[in-house]
Order: sequence, then structure tokens, then C-alpha cells
Amino acid sequence: MSAGLDGIIAAETVLSHVDGQAGRLVLRGLDVERAAQSLDFEGVTALLWQGFHPLGGRPDELRAAIGRARGRVAARLPALLPAIRGLSAVEALRLLLSSLPDGEAADDAVTVVAAVPVFIAALDRRLRGLSPVAPDVGAGQAADFLRMMTGTDPAPALARALDTYLVTVSDHGLNASTFAARIVASTRAGMVSSIVAGLCALKGPLHGGAPGPVLDMLDAVGDAAAAPAWIAGELAAGRRLMGFGHRIYRVRDPRAEVLKTAVRSLSSPRIALAEQVEQVALAALSRHRPDRPLETNVEFYTALLLDAVGLGRDLFTPVFAMGRVAGWTAHVMEQETTGRLMRPASRYVGPMAA
Ligand code: ACO
Repeated sequence: MSAGLDGIIAAETVLSHVDGQAGRLVLRGLDVERAAQSLDFEGVTALLWQGFHPLGGRPDELRAAIGRARGRVAARLPALLPAIRGLSAVEALRLLLSSLPDGEAADDAVTVVAAVPVFIAALDRRLRGLSPVAPDVGAGQAADFLRMMTGTDPAPALARALDTYLVTVSDHGLNASTFAARIVASTRAGMVSSIVAGLCALKGPLHGGAPGPVLDMLDAVGDAAAAPAWIAGELAAGRRLMGFGHRIYRVRDPRAEVLKTAVRSLSSPRIALAEQVEQVALAALSRHRPDRPLETNVEFYTALLLDAVGLGRDLFTPVFAMGRVAGWTAHVMEQETTGRLMRPASRYVGPMAA
């Protein structure tokens, strides 16, 4: 028995490989550093879908199909948006995605990938009392998302930084949300149901819910001189430092470095403080747990990058889903092609009937 399923291999995949000892992430044969440099969101999605979807390996056609699907999804917004009242951003995204029917997997994959940015932009505007901005169906997903958020075309550097982020987080082995999506896919429940399951798992602070709290931490620290005492206080109180540690990586998460480089290309007012806090935190964690390497994970620089792109911290987890949906959909199709119903066993430790 392994309570956290550590080291258990529950699926074979051609999609991504995480080497926790070497600090390496490979996406279908491309190191993440190279993928982030050479691909945009549609490019990595086409790569991940290769062999599983008719538009796999055809990024231009996929871009056009996703654009058209953004238009179709946007037409549903007036009927859907009133229902999100009182919900947080990630809860509203969960509700809106759930409204999509389960149909044919190939069509649903395009729809659900297109739906995430349309829904995030519309729900954010609704929560701010604004009406949705119609998608530009000919634009790329990252640029169009930023345009739907603000109503104006984004600076190319911002759209490029967001693309770098989306590619960097597009897939990551059998992480908790991907596993959740694959379990649901293994029951043949359908694409949308599987993706909603993935989002539910992603929402938790131990998975995709960490970057908002990373900014909260930087705000609470305030300035670099206060960092050692603040961090020591958190660890003494038994709290975890957000943006550090990982189930698989025993060295620095390679995605953290890719995102750090991307953040440096933008003007982030927080980057200097973040780099100082990171150094203090790493030193404190190695004193706190000398037996357990705890390094910077992807969420630390995610927070800085999404903040610099102009997104509010309540949108960080939804925007993570906007990237990861590329991997989730690919895993669902892979599971449906090759997988078996996932049904592990439990060991009963309760009383037996007398
Ligand atoms: N701060 C302080 N202590 C930590 C941290 C941290 N960030 N991470 C782990 N530890 C401690 C744990 O409390 C544990 O101590 P214990 O044995 O006394 O209970 C010990 O280190 C070993 O923990 P692990 O087995 O490595 O942790 P696990 O694999 O269960 O958790 C996780 C990994 C959830 C990411 C953890 O490191 C954490 O909570 N980090 C903070 C939240 C975070 O950044 N999440 C985003 C993860 S990246 C992603 O999902 C995309």
C-alpha cells in the first residue's frame, strides 16, 4: 500500500516524462526549455494530440478550429453567466465547463480547449460588472484571451510570455489532476466530464492552487530584510511555504527556470523581492528539513509571471487550467485509446461484523 501512490506506475504514456532526479521535463521528445522557446499554445497542443486527434500535428488547422470553437462557446455565455453569482473564479470556471455536454471526444477536445479562456475572460469581467468581449476567432489563443480580458489588443511581449507559460505547464506526467482526468476517462464518461474532474483536482492548494498564496506570501514579507524572520515564523508554526517542494522533483523544477527567464523579460515590480525571498526560503528549508531536498517549484514563478501579465491572483488557477487542458485532453484520448478501467483496491482496516 502507498497512501500517496508514490512510485506507483498507473499508466503508460507517450505524452511527457518527468525526471525528478535530473530536474528534466520532456514533452513528446522536446525538453520543456526548447518547447517553451519554439512553440505557442496551439503548437504544443498539436504536438500532444499527435496520433490521438485528427488535428494532432497540424497546428495551423488546429489554431483555426480552436478559434472557431471560441466563437461557438462565446454564443452560450448570455445563458450561462447569471449562474456564477457568488462563486470564486475557479468555482465559476468549474460550473461553466460542466455546462458543456459530453459528446464525441475529438469535437469535445477542441471545444473544451477553446472554452477555458472564453469562460475565464467572461467570468472575470462579469465579477467586475463588465460584459464579455467577443473573441477574435482568427487570433492565437493567448493573445485572444488577453484581448477578451481587457477589450484591447495586448502588447506582443505579454502574449508571448503567456504562451511561454501555457506551453511550460501544458503537461507533466501523471500529476493529480491528470490522474483524476484519466480515471474518469477510463470509465468512458466522456471528455468534458474528465476535464471537469481534472479541474477539481487542480483547484487544491497542494496542486494548482498555490500561486495566489505565493503572492500573498510576498505581500506579507513586504521587503527582503523581513524575509528571514517571516519565513522562520511560518516554518516554526508548521506551515508550508507556497511555491516550494514537489512530490517528484528532488532538484529545482525545470519549469521554474523557464518561467523565471520569461518574467525577467517583462517589467515585474516584484521580481527583485521574489528572488531574494526565494534564496532565504531555500536556505531556511534546507535547515528545516536537511533530510528532504525542498526546491523551488513551478508555482513560484508562475505567480510572478501571471501577475506581470496583468492577471489577478484569483485567476491564477483558472489560467493554469488554460494551459494544462492541452495535456488533460491528450491524456483522456490516450486513456480512451489504450486504457483499462482504473479500479485499484483498498485494504479494509475497520471492524468486521460481530
Ligand atoms: N514548506 C515547508 N515544508 C514542506 C514543504 C514546503 N513547501 N513541502 C514539503 N514540506 C515538508 C512536509 O511538511 C513534509 O514534512 P513531514 O514529513 O514532517 O510531514 C516533508 O517536507 C516532506 O514532504 P513531501 O513528502 O516532499 O511532500 P509531498 O510530496 O507530500 O508534497 C507538495 C509535495 C504538496 C508540493 C509540498 O511540497 C507542498 O505542500 N508545497 C507547498 C504547496 C505548493 O507549492 N504546491 C504546488 C506544487 S507544484 C504543482 O502541483 C503544479
